[in-house]
Amino acid sequence: MALENGNQSDRIKKFVAALNIAISNCRLYSKDHALIEESGKKTLSILSELLSEPVEMMVIDDDLIINKMPLRSVGLQSDNLVRRLTRKSISRVDFMAGITPGEFNQFISTMSQADSGSCAFPHIITGHVDVSTGRLKAECAYTDEDLNSFKAEQIERLKVIYKNIAPFKQLKMNELEDIVTRFVATLSREISVLKLLSPIKSYSNYTYVHSINVAILSIFQAESLGLSGKLLHDIGLAALLHDVGKLFISKDILEKHGPLDEQEFAAMTNHPAYGAAYLARIEGIARIVPIVAFEHHQKYNGTGYPKQKMSEKKQHLGSQLVAISDVFDALRSWRPYRKSLAPDEVLALMKKGAGADFNPPLVDNFITSFQKASEKER
Ligand SMILES: [Fe+2]
Ligand SMILES: [Fe+2]
Repeated sequence: MALENGNQSDRIKKFVAALNIAISNCRLYSKDHALIEESGKKTLSILSELLSEPVEMMVIDDDLIINKMPLRSVGLQSDNLVRRLTRKSISRVDFMAGITPGEFNQFISTMSQADSGSCAFPHIITGHVDVSTGRLKAECAYTDEDLNSFKAEQIERLKVIYKNIAPFKQLKMNELEDIVTRFVATLSREISVLKLLSPIKSYSNYTYVHSINVAILSIFQAESLGLSGKLLHDIGLAALLHDVGKLFISKDILEKHGPLDEQEFAAMTNHPAYGAAYLARIEGIARIVPIVAFEHHQKYNGTGYPKQKMSEKKQHLGSQLVAISDVFDALRSWRPYRKSLAPDEVLALMKKGAGADFNPPLVDNFITSFQKASEKER
């Protein structure tokens, strides 16, 4: 037992030292420098060995305490970390199992910035200890302005990734995973789903903004159903990529300023199959991602496209959630040939589609959760 405790305390000391180096590298070198990736990877691998249980890091009276163990003996390393945390008004960080490299690198990058903003991630929560309860209170560093630039940044990132898509080129999965991770984290900080949605302002931006909105709405629905962890993340990723097949459809059809004629519509209906075929070739991708791309225009009653045989099994849960988000975002968005609808009008229309277009309990859950979020906003 003594030996085990000894090993554990050595690992904690190693973790503090590695974390300091990783943060310093992030301050010193440009974002793409190999040292940043290398030190982040090393620190995360030490941390992962400690994560059979959550790791709690606290600053109390200028002392660093990890899992109730004071780290005075680490000297300079722990002093540096305490200074960094204090500068950002953070007195506690909880690390939980399941941290992804993207999430960890983002945490290190946030810690390396001099401003006082902190950030919460799905498996890393930063904040201060509430003295009255002893519990961790997560900080919410977002102003409306922060949130708008955060959204614009994610839309821009997706645009760059999509612009590089070609039939036999690999997708930048790490970047896409990171976009999803950030939205999951932002929603978990009680930021209203309404504030996260972006308006669609132009035809050329439609696919990116719509894909981001559908991802947010799908994560929101999945969370409200109690889903978490990898499944929640995979649903977000599938939603983000649901319309990727549109990139293989002619721009004249995609950006047409008016309703599509019969032939154009027929061409457009190929996008689910194109998207699924493209995504299915990506190595290591979660199975749900191509499935959702294929099924998101199918309906609960077996109609929609691509056509399904009645004997085939019903839509995947992920596809049912994405179909709800997809229709909601499409109806609330402005088009030159019809006015945009207010959220309440859209919800009323969607309620009518329960049983035919959508799975009734899922659409009910969406409507109730959305209305609750809107009431909080008022
Ligand atoms: Fe679609
Ligand atoms: Fe869509």
